[in-house]
Amino acid sequence: MQIGSIIDGKERKEETRESMMVMNPYNQEKVAELKLATKKDLDDAVDSCFNLFHSTMKVMPAHERAAILQKTADLLEEKKEDFALTICKEAGKPITGSRGEVERSVQVLRFAAELAKNITGEVIPMDAAIGGENRLGLIKRIPLGIVGAITPFNFPLNLSLHKLAPAIAAGNTVVFKPAEKTPVTAYKLVQLFQEAGLPDGIINLLIGTGKDVGEPLVTHEKVHKISFTGSLKVGKSIAETAGFKKVTLELGSNSPNILFNDADIDYAAKSLVKGAFAFSGQVCISAQRVYVQKDIYDTFLETYINQTKALKIGDPLDEKTNIGPMINEEAAKRAKQWIDDAVEKGAKIETGGEQNGTVLSPTIMTNVDENMKVIAEEVFAPIVSVIPFETEEEVVGYSNDSIYGLQAGVFTKNIDRALRVADKLEMGGVWINEISTYRQDNHPYGGVKQSGVGKEGVKYAIEDMTEMKFIGVKLEK
Ligand code: SIN
Repeated sequence: MQIGSIIDGKERKEETRESMMVMNPYNQEKVAELKLATKKDLDDAVDSCFNLFHSTMKVMPAHERAAILQKTADLLEEKKEDFALTICKEAGKPITGSRGEVERSVQVLRFAAELAKNITGEVIPMDAAIGGENRLGLIKRIPLGIVGAITPFNFPLNLSLHKLAPAIAAGNTVVFKPAEKTPVTAYKLVQLFQEAGLPDGIINLLIGTGKDVGEPLVTHEKVHKISFTGSLKVGKSIAETAGFKKVTLELGSNSPNILFNDADIDYAAKSLVKGAFAFSGQVCISAQRVYVQKDIYDTFLETYINQTKALKIGDPLDEKTNIGPMINEEAAKRAKQWIDDAVEKGAKIETGGEQNGTVLSPTIMTNVDENMKVIAEEVFAPIVSVIPFETEEEVVGYSNDSIYGLQAGVFTKNIDRALRVADKLEMGGVWINEISTYRQDNHPYGGVKQSGVGKEGVKYAIEDMTEMKFIGVKLEK
């Protein structure tokens, strides 16, 4: 399969273009050859989005935008196995997880379709101000114009839709730059929108590198907003270079999960196996630090290790596989180095720690401290650390001792304590009796500190992808 960018509904994949390969991270089989976009393609994509915003999107009624989104959801449901297989092959995500991602994506489209019809404004009580009698104040929510969507490899469908679907619901046009490692899902998604009746050029797809198209997209003067999910490093550079654009940055974390001594140990261990190892930990809210109150520490650790050892490592296409590859060998080697670095500083590997090509076995570490990368930085790998604590105050301190603050999990039967701790945690979101890794697509999602800026979750992304416009009327007496 050979694919290229889609601009104004036409694919650009001439033979003279530079190529890049997408390989299945598990067996290195070729998935697709990419014909890469250039700066000129980016300029064309932006110009087309600019023209179509004014000629088409600005005047497209909400019911039409909603119908296109519903139709895209219907088509995705029809083709769900094809999408799941594509995600599985290009990202190496186990097939069950890939199917789960598609299910979520259908819902994201349906939420966006419903919300497209409910973008409401406000009437201001103008007479609240002295002299405001006989004046009418209205706020309308209007689309921004061009949204630049830059998406990661780990949820190539759903995290793309968390940008594309609200952008369309709100009446924007989109220049879409997916991760080079997983562009086939993105390519099929853009075709799905076209098939659902979205006019050509409303979403222009750029398959290219961060340097050639990502960076110039961020600095382009005609683009109104950048919505980015990815690393802190790239997020920082976007924040510095985006100029006057709005930005939403969904970045990383080293999510803490706290187990108090009244927690259901079996349930917490089972949930945290998923929470730390789903998609080999390549999830921004993956459970990375597990704090366990001292009196249940040993029992929890033993249960957790046993359950982790039972995970099946293998081909992501195999229905029984729990742990597949990481995205590439470089990522697996980097993670292994972090484990080795922690061990040199005194950490203990309780299980796992073996790297074979792109596969890193699910790893539980103990005796860790905040000077180790596995604690202080985002591991984005199947590595979790289990750490004992004594008091509530102490564990809140440990949890907040981080540059990140995306989501956390708190396990306890004591609701007063749960809510008190939730208030004290410096996080964008806190789950009680649920893992940090759980995300539903209709709640606000986004971090504090260096985990990001702005919120996703369809309704909240629509708010960020619209502008308030005030219209005042001076009425005759
Ligand atoms: C992420 O990795 O940022 C997204 C997690 C999710 O949507 O489940």
